[in-house]
Amino acid sequence: MDRVRNPFAPGAGTPPPALVGREEVLENAQVTLARIKEGRPAKSFLLIGLRGVGKTVLLNRIQDMAQEHGYRAIAIEAPENKRLPALLVPSLRQVLLALDRVEKFNEVVKRGLRVLKSFAGAFKLSLGQFDIGLDTDPELGTADSGDLEADLSELLIAVAQAAAARQVPMAIFIDEMQYLNEDELSALIMAVHKIAQRRLPLLLIGAGLPQLVGLTGKSKSYAERLFDFPKIGALKGQDARNALETPVRGENVTFETVALDEVISVTQGYPYFLQEWGYQTWNMADASPISLDTVRAAHSAVIQRLDDSFFRVRFDRLTPRERDYLRAMAELGAGPHRSGDIADVLEVNVHSVAPLRSALIKKGMIYSPAHGDTAFTVPLFDEFMKRIMPDLKRRKPRSPTSASLL
Ligand SMILES: Nc1ncnc2c1ncn2[C@@H]1O[C@H](COP(=O)(O)OP(=O)(O)OP(=O)(O)O)[C@@H](O)[C@H]1O
Ligand SMILES: [Mg+2]
Repeated sequence: MDRVRNPFAPGAGTPPPALVGREEVLENAQVTLARIKEGRPAKSFLLIGLRGVGKTVLLNRIQDMAQEHGYRAIAIEAPENKRLPALLVPSLRQVLLALDRVEKFNEVVKRGLRVLKSFAGAFKLSLGQFDIGLDTDPELGTADSGDLEADLSELLIAVAQAAAARQVPMAIFIDEMQYLNEDELSALIMAVHKIAQRRLPLLLIGAGLPQLVGLTGKSKSYAERLFDFPKIGALKGQDARNALETPVRGENVTFETVALDEVISVTQGYPYFLQEWGYQTWNMADASPISLDTVRAAHSAVIQRLDDSFFRVRFDRLTPRERDYLRAMAELGAGPHRSGDIADVLEVNVHSVAPLRSALIKKGMIYSPAHGDTAFTVPLFDEFMKRIMPDLKRRKPRSPTSASLL
């Protein structure tokens, strides 16, 4: 069929042709945004889910909603190699300068700019480009101690006060939040806590892999009461059907029921996979309705595409030992698996691979759904590991048993 009219949108953060199954989270976000805007208490929230379930898409959607409510929004993605102060300062500066320009002089907004300058100085952020338009003296003694926890709170409170002074609510969006280090996460949580206590109009909306829940709890034990953690998962039942049927209906195309069932079964309802399968089956179909045969014929092409991109980029970031660990996990199936069972497959002591497991959690490849359990953060990664590493490598040869030594 006409590839130009293909409605599906596989990609990272690409808005889907039909954003289905997320009504509740969007409705809650709507209420939270409206409450904070009115100066009422509401919890900041962190969207939690595996790779490819649609966290970034939701974050972007909620950012649009915030802007419709008149919020000033800043959006950052926590990378693995840049630190939080360096990420926040340029966007906060933009917001403060915009608030400064709104109307006549406002001392609270000016103070926000001075505190930002102190903070930037304390964290030795290159002032080159940053300084332009900011002919302000730093607010000495505020947000400049060099202790991130204290300084970030002071900075964000000053920013939130500036927002309040202009009666403009603010939202900070942070994607891939599991990549923040413990100090940064602690600092951020404490800042949100203090802002909530003061009823200032600043909201934090984040997204991350499942390990983010444990990381926030570890950083600050009150985090679980401070935030909501909406779970974003695979699409179930009618939602999964709608994710496929609604977009094609817009082009006067349908799926045979059995074809739809097949796509839902192979994708297990994971949004990214639904988009990939939808996209390829559309391109391979000759006419409507899209048949089961077409879905089956598209199968190997879709797997190939996933192997070359979605799975492959993650695999390429792994060390040989990390690959072996994940391959051993895959041997046991989709998971979750007991760490002891994975070590058994590798024929090593569970303690000897504990650092490897931690490194993989930090990289965002696996997480621990319950104590001692390990699961993939990338859906269907077990099957990929078996395709890319058909042979299971034992980490070291089995040591001679006492029987053979005799
Ligand atoms: N509710 C939905 N219905 C249908 N498709 C969706 C839905 N949400 C997201 N998608 C599609 O899924 C894909 C992945 O979305 P997105 O990049 O937001 O996921 P993610 O959770 O941020 O993944 P990652 O953890 O890898 O960053 C995109 O192609 C998007 O169009
Ligand atoms: Mg994302």
